[in-house]
Amino acid sequence: MNNRFLGQAAPGLASLQPYVPGKPLSELERELGITGSIKLASNENPLGPSPRVRAALEAQIADLSRYPDGGAFELRRVIAARHDVDPACVTVGNGSNDVLDMVARVFLWAGRESLFSQYAFAVYPISSMAVGATLRMTPAVDYGHDLGAMRAMLTEQTGVIWIANPNNPTGTRLGRVALREFIESAPSQVMVVVDEAYFEYVRDGDFPDASQWLGDFPNLIVTRTFSKAYGLAALRVGYGLSHPDVADLLNRVRQPFNVDSFAQAAALAALEDQEYLRRSVEINDQGMQQLVAGVQRLGLEYIPSAGNFLTIDLGRDAGPVDQALLRLGVVTRPVSNYGLPNHLRVSIGLEAENARFLDALGQVL
Ligand SMILES: Cc1ncc(COP(=O)(O)O)c(C=O)c1O
Repeated sequence: MNNRFLGQAAPGLASLQPYVPGKPLSELERELGITGSIKLASNENPLGPSPRVRAALEAQIADLSRYPDGGAFELRRVIAARHDVDPACVTVGNGSNDVLDMVARVFLWAGRESLFSQYAFAVYPISSMAVGATLRMTPAVDYGHDLGAMRAMLTEQTGVIWIANPNNPTGTRLGRVALREFIESAPSQVMVVVDEAYFEYVRDGDFPDASQWLGDFPNLIVTRTFSKAYGLAALRVGYGLSHPDVADLLNRVRQPFNVDSFAQAAALAALEDQEYLRRSVEINDQGMQQLVAGVQRLGLEYIPSAGNFLTIDLGRDAGPVDQALLRLGVVTRPVSNYGLPNHLRVSIGLEAENARFLDALGQVL
């Protein structure tokens, strides 16, 4: 067979490595012939869904045969009020991933440059390559973004700068003054994306809420998600905040019904359940302390993290350690695809899950 159409695919796709999601537990257990395993691989919320979200989802079933509100009117209104912006500033996404992808489709194309840091979240290069843009990656400093190096790599062709704050998979974060100065110094025609997927977890007084700067920088796009601290990863809902003219452009490429009615209802219910959010963050804080202490007891280095995960330097190839952990029913995430072959990323779980991970890691090592 002569698949001549393969040569006709968009140019950036030939070398694009697709995003590799964590395996579902059920599939893994089938493969390994085990049961009762725990998943600490995808930075999910270990609390399970909020009761308020469950109720909202049940109520939504009556409208299952109807299309969702394509404009997500109520959700955008509530999000806008929380951030003290106009609803015209809000772009909803099928996860914040979707918004990142819209940004690439609007502001990048062949010949344009996409600028991000080494170890930055994998979707930035993926979405950029899909639209044929040229990738520009600056070396990290202490695993984090080197804003000076990023500034120095700006060219006439730069279309988008991507900054994850905190970053995944490293958990590194940028402080208020450094980030603001960087955005100030970026040319006004270059879009600066500040991806705040893990915002709610950060407990540092110096940590910026970049959405407060939207009025100052029309080229700023801030993304947030309901997948992490709000516990809605399965439903896929996130959003972008930007100048209304930017949101207007993003909405031109947005699929009309990209956030379904269950996701919209759940996100609204999640926003009302501040107690759930508080508990999520509290459990994360405690779990982080537990993991850090355990990892230190094992004599291992780790990257201090502001997110809901910890990336540990095993000092040796993490691949076999990951495999051995799997056999003990503990699923974590090796990050060799990020150029960190000795590191293992573990998401913060419930106390018993963290203890089980530490115990298994101790056994394996
Ligand atoms: C830094 C960062 N940004 C964005 C996302 C996308 O999340 P979602 O599409 O679930 O909102 C993730 C998911 O892990 C992430 O780590």
